[in-house]
This record gives sequence, C-alpha cells and structure tokens, in this order.
Amino acid sequence: MNTKEISKEEFRRLVLTGIPDTLPELKPYEPEVNHAPKRKEILTETEKELALKNALRYFPARHHAVLASEFADELARYGRIYMYRFRPDYKIYARPIDDYPCRSKQAAAIMLMLSNNLDDAVAQHPRELITYGGNGAVFQNWAQYLLTMKYLATMTDEQTLVMYSGHPMGLFPSHKDAPRVVVTNGMVIPNYSSKDHWEKFNALGVSQYGQMTAGSYMYIGPQGIVHGTTITVLNAKRKQRAIHPSSKGVLFVSSGLGGMSGAQPKAGNVAGVVSVIAEINPKAVAVRHSQGWVDEVFTDLDTLLPRIRKAVDANEVVSIAYQGNVVDLWERLAAEKMYVDLGSDQTSLHNPWAGGYYPAGIAFEEANRLMAEEPDRFQEEVRKSLRRQAAAINALTGQGMYFFDYGNAFLLEASRAGADVMKADGTFRYPSYVQDIMGPLFFDYGFGPFRWVCTSGNPKDLAVSDRIAAEVLESILRTAPADIQSQLEDNLHWIREAQKNNLVVGSQARILYLDSAGRIEVAGALNEAIRRGEISAPIVLGRDHHDVSGTDSPFRETSNIYDGSSFTADMAVQNVIGDSFRGATWVSIHNGGGVGWGEVINGGFGLVIDGTDEADNRLKSMLLWDVNNGLARRSWARNRGAMDAIQREMARTPGLVVTLPNIADENLIKATLKHE
Ligand SMILES: NC(=O)c1ccc[n+]([C@@H]2O[C@H](COP(=O)([O-])OP(=O)(O)OC[C@H]3O[C@@H](n4cnc5c(N)ncnc54)[C@H](O)[C@@H]3O)[C@@H](O)[C@H]2O)c1
Repeated sequence: MNTKEISKEEFRRLVLTGIPDTLPELKPYEPEVNHAPKRKEILTETEKELALKNALRYFPARHHAVLASEFADELARYGRIYMYRFRPDYKIYARPIDDYPCRSKQAAAIMLMLSNNLDDAVAQHPRELITYGGNGAVFQNWAQYLLTMKYLATMTDEQTLVMYSGHPMGLFPSHKDAPRVVVTNGMVIPNYSSKDHWEKFNALGVSQYGQMTAGSYMYIGPQGIVHGTTITVLNAKRKQRAIHPSSKGVLFVSSGLGGMSGAQPKAGNVAGVVSVIAEINPKAVAVRHSQGWVDEVFTDLDTLLPRIRKAVDANEVVSIAYQGNVVDLWERLAAEKMYVDLGSDQTSLHNPWAGGYYPAGIAFEEANRLMAEEPDRFQEEVRKSLRRQAAAINALTGQGMYFFDYGNAFLLEASRAGADVMKADGTFRYPSYVQDIMGPLFFDYGFGPFRWVCTSGNPKDLAVSDRIAAEVLESILRTAPADIQSQLEDNLHWIREAQKNNLVVGSQARILYLDSAGRIEVAGALNEAIRRGEISAPIVLGRDHHDVSGTDSPFRETSNIYDGSSFTADMAVQNVIGDSFRGATWVSIHNGGGVGWGEVINGGFGLVIDGTDEADNRLKSMLLWDVNNGLARRSWARNRGAMDAIQREMARTPGLVVTLPNIADENLIKATLKHE
C-alpha cells in the first residue's frame, strides 16, 4: 500500500535518492484502489517499440532486460506504461513544508503542492498519477515523479526546472526572480490535437493531458467546485428574485450527485435555497448522503413533493436527493404545476452513450446492459428521454423558472435529439452558466478563483488567513462600486462560513473569488501576517483556470466573448508569459482542461509568499497582470462590465494604458450592409 508512515529523515533520504540504483520490489495490483480505466490500444507495432525505448531512457542499461518485458506487459494490460514498480512506498500527501529536503524553499512549496495532487485522499486514480477528470495527470509515470522530486530537492534559487508534459527536462541556470519551474502539458502542433492524438502521444510517453489544476500542481480537492457552484446558485437566485420577488424559499432543481455535480446540494445549502437533485445511481446517492453533502433522500415522488412544498413554504434551507431518474422528477413537477425558481442539469452529457445519461423508464442495471449489448436502442432511449426532459423544463420555464445549461452539453445533446430547445435564430433557448452568470457577473469584472495554501499544514494558519481575508473584504466593501458589491458580499459570506462548512480535503487551502484589487490586498495582508509571525510558514497563492484571463475555451470560460475572437488563444498564452517575468514561482500552460484536449488552452501559476519585501513586490506586479490581461481582452471584445472595470483599474494604476474599443452604431452597420 502507498500508506507507509516513515520518519522525516527517511523520507528526505528517499526523495534525494530519486530513481534508485537497484530495482525496487514489484508492486502488487491493489483492487481496492480506484484505478484508471484501460486505455484503448492505439499504437502500431513499431510505435510500441518506440514507447518501450522511450520508457527505458530513465534507467541504466543493466536493468533493461527486466524492465523491457515488464513495461511491455503494462502497455498491453493498461494501454500505458506507468512504471508501477517505482511508486514510492511512503505515503504521498501535502507534508508540512519543513519536511521536504531542499535548498530552495520555493521548490519545497512546489513539492508540497504536487504531492497534494497525488494524495490517495485527493487524487481520482492515484496509482496512475491522475488527479481528476479521468485523465488529468501530474506525471505520465513514476520515474518522472522520482526524478522531479529529486531535482526540486536539490535545485537552488538560481535554477529553473523545465517540465515537458510530466517529463523533467532538467535544471537550467536562471536567476532568483525567475520562475523555479516552467510547466507545459499537452502542447502539440495544432493540426495534431484530436482525441486520438492524445491517446497516441500519451501511450508513447511524450505528452500528457494536464487538465487544469492537475498538471499545474494547483488542485485543492472538491472545495473549488463547491465555491464555484455556490456563487452560481447565489447569483441565479438573485437574478430570479429580482424578477419574481417572494418571501418563500427558493427552489433549485437539478440532477447529478457525481464528481462535480455532487457539489450542488452542499452549495445549495451555503446559498440558502431548497435544492432537489435527482440521481439515478444509488451508490452515488449513498456516498453524498454519508458525507453529509445532501441532507435527505427520497425514492418516492409521492412523498417527495409534499416535502418540497413544506420546505419552500417554511423558507427552509435543505438539500434533498431524489433517487431516481431526473426525467420523472421534471415531468411530475410540470404535471403538478409546481413553481420552480431555478433549474439546471448536471448529468454527464459530454459522454451520452457510455453512462453519462440514463434514459427514463429503464432500471439502472438494465440500462447498463443495453448500453453494452444494444447500443442503438440505448441511444434511442436517451434521445427520447432528452426530448421528454426538455418538454417538462419548457413547461416550467413557461411558468417563470430560470433554466441554465451547466457546461455539461445538455442543450447540445437535447438539440441533437430533436428536443425543443432552439430559438428561431439557431441559438439555444437557454443560456449557459458562463454566458449568463459567471461571464458577465464575475469574469468581466475581474472576479475569479483566487486561492491560497498554508504550507505549514497547520489548520490554525488557515483559520488566521480566513480571518484576515474576511477583514480585508469588509474593508473593500465599504467603498466598493455598486456593480461589484454583491460579488464581494457573496465571498464574504463564503469565507465567514468556510470553517463551519469543513471544506478542506488534503492541503490547508482556501478559495475565494476576488478581483485584481481584492486579490492583491488579501495577498498583501497574508504576506504581512507571515512577516509578523501570525502565520507560521510561507503561503502558496494560485488559482484554477475557470477565470478571467487564464483560459481560452470557446464553449466555457470565453463563451461570452462575442467579437469572433473566442477561438483564439492569445490571452491564455500571453497570461503565462506575463506571469513568468512578473514574479510567479511556477507557471504552466496546457492544451486541454475542462472541456477536452484540443478544445481549450489554459494557463496557471503558483506564487510563494514568505513575508519578505520581494514577495510583496512580486504579488503586486504579477496579480495585477494576471487579472487585467483578461479584463483588457474582455473590454476589447466590447463586454460592458469589463470596459468599466478596466477603466477603473487604469484610473487606479499608474502605467496601465489599455486600448479601449469604440462602439459602432448597430443601425449604421445594418444600414451600411443593407441588412434589416
Ligand atoms: N460543476 C461545474 O462547475 C461544471 C462545470 C462545467 C461542466 N460540468 C459538467 O457537469 C457534468 C457532470 O460532472 P460530474 O463530474 O458530476 O459527472 P459524473 O458523471 O460524476 O456525475 C453525473 C451523475 O449524473 C447521474 N445521472 C445520469 N443520468 C441521470 C438521469 N437521467 N437521472 C438522474 N441522474 C442521472 C449519474 O449517475 C452520475 O452520478 C459533466 O458533463 C461536466 O463536464 C460541471
């Protein structure tokens, strides 16, 4: 098992050993661990030779005879060469920063962060070095892990470690203000970016899918998704209540208690609504219920509906799972003309034919059988269900419900199934959560998923940081312009409730959506607290990529860019380059993440603050760029909020001069082109 507790000295010795000279014992396969699925066979016989030669590059020739057959066997069995034998025996988790052997504290902080991404309690497929999202990898194999840890443990602040898709290319002389690590993941020539290209390059051991925060060492467990979902539900509620005021509870109906979707009931409670989430899989319901992420479970619509009415009438805050098919739930709500405030869907419709969506009227096990044995019939049942689901949703939106697509391809698949979800102009009848909520309310004002990790590993440091962040937010709120007050209030509410909601899994981390000024002020106050000794060790600052500037993703983060530039990726690339020379401790740029390989470019950073003046200078310079790069682009795309926000920033920041758009008169354009 990967759970052996060893002394700090032994851990340090093993990290400094890197790839051991003598072969470690073979590791048994652990059936109780969640393993990555077998990848499809993609390599030709000649390419398999290449994959073996590539893997053996990490080891001296005297071991090749043993390892060649072992790696060939892994390739045949799993579709990848993970080098399981070299997985360390010690427990991998975010140890306190002082436990890591190092000559650079910054490098030690990076070891902590990447270890968190491989923790059994955090990672989805820890043995295959996958953190989340099915294929979001930190490394391609265990040799890369061992070598990288050794480099980090021995490098100085005058060197930079260069990472090519999990492979440590080496340490290169640089200088103390340069990033300690530069990461690229999945960067391929654009014409070679299909899903099968990923399969092939990954099987050859030359590229990996880093997702967003897996290959950039910035994953902080489920907390990130709970926060994003909370502010989405809060703002949807606010939008709805502005149109339909009521003293009753807000009813939010959706589906899915899986990986990300499972955050909905917890977020519903934080946002103060009655949430009803349908989930077909009893195991998923049981997991979320036992974790306390959903309060009550119903299997029968006859008892569920009176319970919903009671909760709404009493303005209760409660989360309810309906163990059954979401289509049945929607149809019953529509039949009873129940008033629903907010509706969405988080079944995995990005994967409709292989278990992402279960058709109505068919038992769960029978559906699994159909999927494998009668795929055509299964697909037709899915289409039929989607048409029914959309019809019930349309009836309820007709009564005033606000429905939004949750980035799960619900509208796309429903439209392909012939459901009534299109407008006459060929666009969807309902908006996506980014088009309607995250984009215009958050990203266009510079608000995004700022986060920090206390490297002491001490929950007391996190509690102090929460208090400091809340104080900073309270002070910003006093003079904040009206258009960002509600965002600040939501985040203040979040940070005040954070301890109570017990959100930490893995490293001592916190997420908070803030704009440029807010991020800089909170980071500055944390740096000051480290300087004063109120916080006992350095803090890592970062973010995920669901943000203002870091990600170019035309169907998600940049779906509310309407000037035709949403298929360009200049913003994400500029972001990382700019962060790298403004003080980031590490930077990363990825092909893929969130919506898939070839569909998105995203970049990220980590910045270690240690209470020094240098850290203060870095955070001011880097965070300002990291947010305002995207604001400038969103403003240039004529997004109103961003035009206001960037002008405010220019007034506040000497030296910031951004090109602003002039707005052409719509009538003039139409008249010129003789359009109606
Ligand atoms: N939460 C977010 O912020 C966010 C953002 C972007 C995209 N998404 C998308 O949301 C989707 C869900 O993500 P996930 O990680 O939770 O996936 P998941 O597969 O872990 O969970 C989906 C759940 O839906 C259930 N389900 C399927 N069909 C059903 C039906 N007809 N009735 C009731 N339950 C049904 C499944 O049993 C499963 O548990 C994905 O497509 C993801 O890309 C989420």
